[in-house]
Amino acid sequence: MKMIIRNAHIGEDKELKDIFIENGKIIKIGKIEEKAEIEIDADGKLVSPPFVDPHVHLDAVLTVGDPQYNISGTLWEGIEIWSKRKLKLTHEDVKKRAKEALKWAVAQGILKVRTHVDVCDPELTALKAMVEVKQEMRELVDVQIVSFPQEGIVSFPDGENLMRKSLEIGADIVGGIPHYEFSRDDGIKSIDIIMDLAKSFDKDIDVHIDETDDDQSRFVEYLAAKTIKENYFGRVTASHITAMHSYNNAYAYKLMSVFKKAQLNVIANPLDNIALQGRFDNYPIRRGMTRIKELLKSGINVGLGHDSVMDPWYPLGRYNMLQVAFMALNVGHMTGYNEINEIFDAITYNSAKLMNLSDYGIKEGNKADLIILNAPSKIEAIRLRSEVLYVIKNGNIIAKTTPAKSYVNDEEISFRVIGIYE
Ligand code: FE2
Repeated sequence: MKMIIRNAHIGEDKELKDIFIENGKIIKIGKIEEKAEIEIDADGKLVSPPFVDPHVHLDAVLTVGDPQYNISGTLWEGIEIWSKRKLKLTHEDVKKRAKEALKWAVAQGILKVRTHVDVCDPELTALKAMVEVKQEMRELVDVQIVSFPQEGIVSFPDGENLMRKSLEIGADIVGGIPHYEFSRDDGIKSIDIIMDLAKSFDKDIDVHIDETDDDQSRFVEYLAAKTIKENYFGRVTASHITAMHSYNNAYAYKLMSVFKKAQLNVIANPLDNIALQGRFDNYPIRRGMTRIKELLKSGINVGLGHDSVMDPWYPLGRYNMLQVAFMALNVGHMTGYNEINEIFDAITYNSAKLMNLSDYGIKEGNKADLIILNAPSKIEAIRLRSEVLYVIKNGNIIAKTTPAKSYVNDEEISFRVIGIYE
């Protein structure tokens, strides 16, 4: 089947182009004279590669309020509630919620997702369910599964063995949580286990690490050094690192040079972390986010994750990556003109890179996975948190959105100023 998207605004290119798609691939970008069965007039709107969410917990999504709401809003009450909710997990319960959330994601242009799945469960209920979800949803969204030991590898009974089993069953990535292990020694030991597992299964690594306000939590240093020693360049991602917000500058800058050598990827999760961190502080209260701006400036690859969608830790969210971008740039002091564009790249290209996705981007010869936003540019997409008008995967339209219209005294209001941010 042939499809042509006309008058597309692609990236920073001012000139509008047509995109010719056939058999699921982008065949040509430029002026297309030919006609096709499906023609879409993008009318100067931004055509982007799909949004990528490299960090979410699909086994916990949409559980907010069950068995109770988080009254304090803290991480600890969230953990307490989750431990009760976890007892009620069933195969069907996990599948139903994960699929529902993934449909929300797809409708809003997310076509690539990396989900952490808690494997601190002798039955591996959530993991087994997620392997099926991945398979059953593959026409709509590409999912990577991280074997995530929520309660630790060393500290949880049989933790290492459960990690191994989950990788045999179908987990794609090795996870971890060294700062949560009982002791510093256990945290270090857990990183050694993570690296051994990754090497023996030939898998990438994505670790929850230093997700605390404790400036003495320094596991990421060991992870980066280990990455270099084991020649695992580019295959390791450090998620959260909120402690980096509190490190002294001399240490933080030294650390970034080690990250660079290790080609370590970083994921920040601004929605959860701005809500959960800093809870022990009196005013001034620290920001719960790692140093996105400085990391990017140092040439380190940084992606952004949604992390939670209506769960015991973060009660809000509608699985929209533009909301994540919006939070990140406000919290991270990244409202400079170029910085807003950089944040858009953090929810697309950067995350695709850390997920080692090939064939990503609006380029001739690439797979036709793309979205058409209801905005002419990256900045406008973020400012308006615009709708995604069309979601196209493998050359097929899989989702559409009709934007709402607003009127004042019968006059339609557009929320845009012609000529600005086009
Ligand atoms: Fe997380």
